[in-house]
Amino acid sequence: MKKLLVCTGGGDCPGLNAVIRGIFKAAKKTKEWEVYGSIEAFNGVMADPIQIIKLKKSTVGGIHVKGGTILKTTNKGNPLQFPVQDENGDIIFEDRTERLAEKIKTLGFDAVINIGGDGSQKISNALFKLGVPIIGVPKTIDNDLSATDTTFGFQTAVQIATDSFDKLVTTAESHHRVMIMEVMGRDAGWIALHTAIAGGAEICLIPEIPYDIQKVKKKIDSRYEQGRGFVNVVIAEGAKALDGQVIGTNREHVSEHLRLGGVAFQLSQELKAVGCKPEIRETVLGHIQRGGTPVSYDRVLATMFGVKAFDLVEEGAFGKMVSFKNNDYCSVSLEEAVKDYNFVDKEGFLVKAAKAMGMSFGD
Ligand code: F6P
Repeated sequence: MKKLLVCTGGGDCPGLNAVIRGIFKAAKKTKEWEVYGSIEAFNGVMADPIQIIKLKKSTVGGIHVKGGTILKTTNKGNPLQFPVQDENGDIIFEDRTERLAEKIKTLGFDAVINIGGDGSQKISNALFKLGVPIIGVPKTIDNDLSATDTTFGFQTAVQIATDSFDKLVTTAESHHRVMIMEVMGRDAGWIALHTAIAGGAEICLIPEIPYDIQKVKKKIDSRYEQGRGFVNVVIAEGAKALDGQVIGTNREHVSEHLRLGGVAFQLSQELKAVGCKPEIRETVLGHIQRGGTPVSYDRVLATMFGVKAFDLVEEGAFGKMVSFKNNDYCSVSLEEAVKDYNFVDKEGFLVKAAKAMGMSFGD
C-alpha cells in the first residue's frame, strides 16, 4: 500500500473537512492508498512523538457538514520561519523545511496534500523544491488567492455576514442609527463587498479603496437629509483611510485587533471627530465568519478540490495546486500559485455596479 499524508494549515475555514473526506474517499476507491493526517499542520510530523493519525471510514464519515478541521490547524510553527531563541535570548527565525522534508521521506510517505492559504502553499512549494511529492489545495475565506477564481469558505463567510447585516438593518431603522459592521479581510475586501451588495449597504469600506472620512460623513448626512434616517456600513478589517493611515490590521492576530476596538470602533471615533451627529453602533463579526457548517456551494467546491487533489497524486503531477478557473477544476503550478494575490479591482464591474446601486466607498 502507498501512503498519503494530508494536513490543514493556517486559519480554519468551513469546508476543510469536506476536502479531507473527498481525498479519503477517492483514495480508498483505488484500494492502493492508505491516508494519514498530520495533526496541526506539519507540526504533527515534527512532533516528538509524531502526531499522525491513520484516517478510517469512521473518522471521515459525515464530516463534510462540519466546520473546522478534524486534523486541527495552527498559524504557529511555520517551517519557513520557525521561531527559536538565539544565545542572547532574542527570537530569531530559522528555515526548517529541510528537516521537515527529510522527516516526511523517512516516514515513508509517497505523497502529501497540503490544504491551506498563501502561507501554507509557500511551504508546499519549498517542500516540492526539496523533492517532496506534494499537491496544494487552496483555502481562504478571504478569496484573496489569484490562482483560483474562488475558494471554499468564502461563500459561507459571506452568508454569515449577510445574515448578520440583515439583522442590523432592522435595528438601525428602528433607532435611526448608523450601524457599522466589521467583517474579515486583512488585505482584500471581497467579503465586505459581497456582503454590502447582498445586504444593500449604503457604505462599504475596503482595503483596495482608501476612504475619505469627509466623504463617508457626507453620504451619511445625505441619507438623513433625504429622510431615510438610518445607515448601514460594512467595513473590512483591513480598510485604510485616504491619508494613508492604516486603521485596520496593525496587529498580530484578530484578538489583538479586537482589543484595540477593531476597525468599526475606530471608524465610529473618526466619524464623531468630524462632527457626525447620528448615534453610531459598532458590530465586529470576528471569527463567527469562520465557524459552523459550510454552505452547500462550499461543500461541493471543497469535495471537488479533494477529489481533484487525489487525481493529481495518481497522475504524479506533483508541485501543483488545485484550482477552479473558468468554471472548471484544474491545476496550476505551486510556483505560480504563490506569486500574486487577488484584490478587488476598484475600476472593475463589481465596484461599478455597487456604485450604481447608490453605494459609497468613501472615494
Ligand atoms: O486569512 C483569513 C483571515 O480570516 C483574515 O481575514 C483574518 O485577518 C485572519 O484570518 C485572522 O486569523 P487569526 O485570528 O486566526 O490570526
